[in-house]
Amino acid sequence: MSDTARPNTPSLDSYWMPFTANRQFKKAPRLLAAAEGMHYTTDDGRRVLDGTAGLWCVNAGHGRRQITAAVERQLSTLDYAPSFQMGHPIAFEFAERLAAIAPGGPEAKLDRVFYTGSGSESVDTALKIAIAYQRAIGQGTRTRVIGRERGYHGVGFGGISVGGLVNNRRVFPLLPGTDHLRHTHDPDRNAFTRGLPAHGAELADDLERLVALHGVETIAAVVVEPVAGSTGVLLPPKGYLERLREIATRHGILLIFDEVISGFGRLGTPFATDYFGVTPDIVTTAKGLTNGTIPMGAVFVKRDVHDALMTGPEAAIELFHGYTYSGHPVACAAGLATLDVYAGEGLLTRGAALAQEWEDAIFTLKDAPNVIDIRTIGLVAGIELASRPGAAGARAYDVFLDCFHKGLLIRVTGDIIALSPPLIVEREQIGEIVSVLGDALASAG
Ligand SMILES: Cc1ncc(COP(=O)(O)O)c(C=O)c1O
Repeated sequence: MSDTARPNTPSLDSYWMPFTANRQFKKAPRLLAAAEGMHYTTDDGRRVLDGTAGLWCVNAGHGRRQITAAVERQLSTLDYAPSFQMGHPIAFEFAERLAAIAPGGPEAKLDRVFYTGSGSESVDTALKIAIAYQRAIGQGTRTRVIGRERGYHGVGFGGISVGGLVNNRRVFPLLPGTDHLRHTHDPDRNAFTRGLPAHGAELADDLERLVALHGVETIAAVVVEPVAGSTGVLLPPKGYLERLREIATRHGILLIFDEVISGFGRLGTPFATDYFGVTPDIVTTAKGLTNGTIPMGAVFVKRDVHDALMTGPEAAIELFHGYTYSGHPVACAAGLATLDVYAGEGLLTRGAALAQEWEDAIFTLKDAPNVIDIRTIGLVAGIELASRPGAAGARAYDVFLDCFHKGLLIRVTGDIIALSPPLIVEREQIGEIVSVLGDALASAG
């Protein structure tokens, strides 16, 4: 729709949109004006089924009154308070509640929580905590951080340095002293596998290779997404995460799981850490933490790692790090209400009950034109398409546009379609997602 057809909408010129082809978008904008439950409403009044929980964040669905009410209450009680050398009760209350459901369960004790404002900030915070920890235990030469190809860890300089997406990296200078494991995506051996891929656990041995290359005394931490989301839903091969854990432990390297997407019920367990039964030392989260309502992230840290930094003179600040909005009271209120909604409706585990049905429904697209792989876990799906010759990404983008016009929001990355509906999704809506997507695939050419 052109601007002239929208007489009452603002000019689109001033807003420089993130991760968007701005000029293309502004010629044919897609505007979402309202949301409720599983649906968005566009500015021209069409209902669109949310197949992506916003951006993997609206896990309890849209317009949750309990969260709105908590935010309103908090805004009119304590709108903002500094968190440097000052505190406010709700930040402590929220951390205590988060600690109670911390990744890995009560045994793992990742029950020290550092607040941030986003996933990117959570990642940079985790990397800094890891390096500070190594220094605190007398391993100050360990400053190198290892990521993985095809990893996405947000857009801070730390995150893009350990991340593995060329477009996010090629223009910018990166942190010195980073390196990468190879990615685990291997469609030749694993295409259309139901469940975790059978092949590729040995790729975790790349960490051994990097230890041999750089020297163990230089490596502070390794960070991976247990399930890579933004780069196209890449599942860890069977045994891979266990092997990575074992190698990291053996070499005194901290293991960080980036759970910005997988946290808060996405896989049918509270965290991916719980799903895989592999416990890292640090877990990064954001997104579902507040159901996407108020920007916030939280880094869960193993108690030993935290305690190692609680040394030195008592009057000394232990970690020179934090944000103006760390522990923002309104975000904490949104987060507490979100946890109540999750608990009240069993949403952190609801995905487990639907996962098989979800998988079966998505796999009906196996024979749709140009589908070359399907991967599902919990309430996530990746559907990989063959690229058009010389036009990588074009086919999936056409499918995305067609779905949107047919009333379904999906996400695409390159030629991979990613689905991650709110965890309140009903069976009929799973059917609708598959049916609309199937039509769009059939007509994409
Ligand atoms: C695994 C992972 N880490 C970090 C981020 C960055 O989060 P944010 O966009 O909130 O900075 C994302 C965002 O999608 C993500 O998927």
